Parts: sequence; structure tokens; C-alpha cells
Amino acid sequence: MNHIILNAINPFVPIILIGVLIIITLILILAERLLGGGGDKVIRINKKKELPVQGDDTLLNVLTQNKIFIPSACGGKATCGFCKVRVLEGGGEMKPTEEPFMSKDEIERNVRLSCQVKVREDMDIAIPEGLLEAQEYVGEVVKVETLTYDIKLIRFKLIEPNKMEFKPGQYAQLKVPGLDVIRAYSIASDPKDTQNIELIVRLVPKGLATTFVHRAMLTGDKIILTGPYGDFYLREDSDRDMIMIAGGSGKAPIRSILYRLKDLGMPRKVKYFFGAKSKRDLYYSEEFEQLEKEFDNFEYIPALSEPLDEDDWQGEVGLITDVVDRMTDDLSEAEAYLCGSPGMIFACIKVLEKHDIKDENVLFDKFD
Ligand SMILES: Cc1cc2nc3c(=O)[nH]c(=O)nc-3n(C[C@H](O)[C@H](O)[C@H](O)COP(=O)(O)OP(=O)(O)OC[C@H]3O[C@@H](n4cnc5c(N)ncnc54)[C@H](O)[C@@H]3O)c2cc1C
Ligand code: FES
Repeated sequence: MNHIILNAINPFVPIILIGVLIIITLILILAERLLGGGGDKVIRINKKKELPVQGDDTLLNVLTQNKIFIPSACGGKATCGFCKVRVLEGGGEMKPTEEPFMSKDEIERNVRLSCQVKVREDMDIAIPEGLLEAQEYVGEVVKVETLTYDIKLIRFKLIEPNKMEFKPGQYAQLKVPGLDVIRAYSIASDPKDTQNIELIVRLVPKGLATTFVHRAMLTGDKIILTGPYGDFYLREDSDRDMIMIAGGSGKAPIRSILYRLKDLGMPRKVKYFFGAKSKRDLYYSEEFEQLEKEFDNFEYIPALSEPLDEDDWQGEVGLITDVVDRMTDDLSEAEAYLCGSPGMIFACIKVLEKHDIKDENVLFDKFD
């Protein structure tokens, strides 16, 4: 009896299965439509520009594909916090991966990590106008100069496009060839020279990008750079006295700012503190000493925290924060430019506050 029933049902089984599959597919297509997955979407930028895009990728990737280069130093892994944009409409709920990077104010202003937001529907976003000017460049390495045992200067001649306009103090991103690794480096060169970009790179032990730059990069290499980025740049509309503090490779953006101030005839009083461990960590001292000779308004104060006997060091000794503290008067009308590790910047801000600096007059670039 069973045998007879099975024989009777068997011919319909494949038809039923195909039917079920068709229904599931239709449900999935419907769900995709309702949830707004792939397909044509529009991203409105700053209420002006409308960007027709293919959805279902991250906002960061979709913008990059459309030549809008948002900074991103971790390749979209939600570990650098660089890729922030304001998402005014669309984009869904904030993910737990984004929360550690957001201040209360940023959450209220709908700031999101663009690498964590999927484009599933039309979106309305706001990004700083300056970012719309960032471009991708091919740069040829034309000089690799050893400045200290762990710091090198790299000079790139820009090939395509062949000019980058940047504000002194801003940074570029360098893509390590063959690896999904992008890192930020402050532009150390003269902003007048738009055809060449110089970066000062300190070797980080086991660091992916810096090991490449120090051990493998050669003149003639073609490297992808993006930029310019960042709001750490010389405020040219200000005439306040300036205090600059840098450590390690933090000299890079300050050097670019000083090129510009030199061109302007050093119109402001500048006191530049540079902190290093011992004499072997100092570099470009002659450049800054020369500037001191040229301009009464400019003072360069290198300080060593652990000078060696053989250094025969006659200059300032101590942690840079202590040196700044003892050589600084009232800063209530001054403007500060700080550049270096997050720890150094945090400690410097504390000292500057002791001397009455105003929060809004402190600019810094954390090399984290
Ligand atoms: C706006 C900005 C501007 C910057 N400008 C410069 C610049 O002009 N010159 C420059 O040399 N660097 C600069 N940096 C730092 C740079 O972007 C890289 O983070 C750094 O070079 C390390 O990259 P890496 O790939 O070699 O190391 P990674 O592979 O990223 O790191 C390897 C390991 O080292 C640790 N690490 C990372 N960075 C440091 C560090 N600085 N000191 C100690 N340990 C570290 C990491 O936690 C990790 O454990 C800047 C960073 C920012 C955000
Ligand atoms: S790209 Fe690094 S957090 Fe988004």
C-alpha cells in the first residue's frame, strides 16, 4: 500500500520543491526591496550635491568609489575612528563598533563611522567641505633621506595629478603597496611647492607602514597618496603669539607651518619647543637655528630629557612639559600648536592650561 502511495507522490516532489524555491526567492527580493539593499541609491552631500550610487556597500567604500576620499587609517575595521561623517538621513542605527569613537556631542549630531554604515537606502550626509577637495595621487619617490637612526624623510614628486594644494599643518595618507594598509603622515614640506610632498616617518617597531617605508621603499617607487586632510593647520587670520610643541616626527607639520610663516616675514611671535631623549634624536636643528638668526620673532628651544655624557649638551634638559612650564609666561592671548603622541599632547595641554591658555586657541595633531 505504502509503495503505491509513494509512487503516486514522487512525480510531484520536484515541482513542489521548485515552487517553494520560487516563493522563497520572491520573498527575499521583496525583503531586499523593503529593506532597501543593493541597487540604485542617491547620496545627498551637504544638501547640494546628489551622488547616484550602487548601494549595499559601506558608505566609506561607496564614497571612495566616487572619488570622495574620507580619511581611513584602518581599512574599514573600525579601529582608527578617522572616517567620521554626519549621517542626517538613512544609515540605520549606530553599531556597537562605532560607540567607543563617539563623544556625546557627536552622537547628538548623528556622526557615524562611514566604514560601519551600509548604503541600503537614499541618504543625506554632511562632510566638511575640505574633504571634498581631497584627491588620490600617484607620487614617485624621488628622495629617501635618513634624518636619525629611526626617522626618514621621503620626498614624492606628484605624477597624477601633479599638484596638491594644502594648508601648512595638514596631512596626507599613504597606501602601502600590496597591503590593505593606509596610514596618515603630516606634510612636512613647503606649501608653496605643490608638485612635491615631503613626509617625515618615524620607524615603529613591527609597524606595517613604517617598516615598509624604512626597509623597502626605494627611489623610483610609485606610491598612492590621498589628501590633503585635517584641521590642524596655520590659522592665517590670527595675529596671536604662537607656542609650538612637538616631539619625534611631530616636527613634520610644524616645519611646513614655519615655511609659510617665513614667507610671510614671521609676522607673529613664535616659540617652538622640541622634545627629544638625547642628541641622536634631534634633526633639522640647523634649519631652525638659521630661522632664529633671520627672525627676532622666532625662538627654537630643543630640550633633551635624557642627554648622554658624550652629547656634551648645553641646552635645556628635562621633560618637554617641564621645560615649557618653566620657560612660559601668561598664555591667555596665545595660540598653541601641539604635535606628537597622544600622551605628550595630553600632558602639554595640562601645562598650557596652568598658564591660562584658552581651549579654543589650542590646536593639536595626535599621532595615534
Ligand atoms: C593625523 C596624523 C598624522 C600623523 N603624522 C605622522 C608623521 O608625520 N610621522 C610619523 O612617523 N607618524 C605620523 N602619524 C602616525 C602614523 O599614521 C602611523 O600610525 C605610524 O607611522 C605607525 O604606523 P605603522 O603601520 O608602522 O604601525 P602599525 O602597524 O599601525 O602599529 C604597530 C604597533 O605599534 C603600535 N604603534 C602605532 N603607532 C605607534 C607610535 N607612533 N608609537 C609607538 N607605538 C605605535 C600599534 O599600537 C601597534 O601595536 C600620524 C598619525 C596621525 C593620526
Ligand atoms: S576606517 Fe578606521 S574606523 Fe572607519
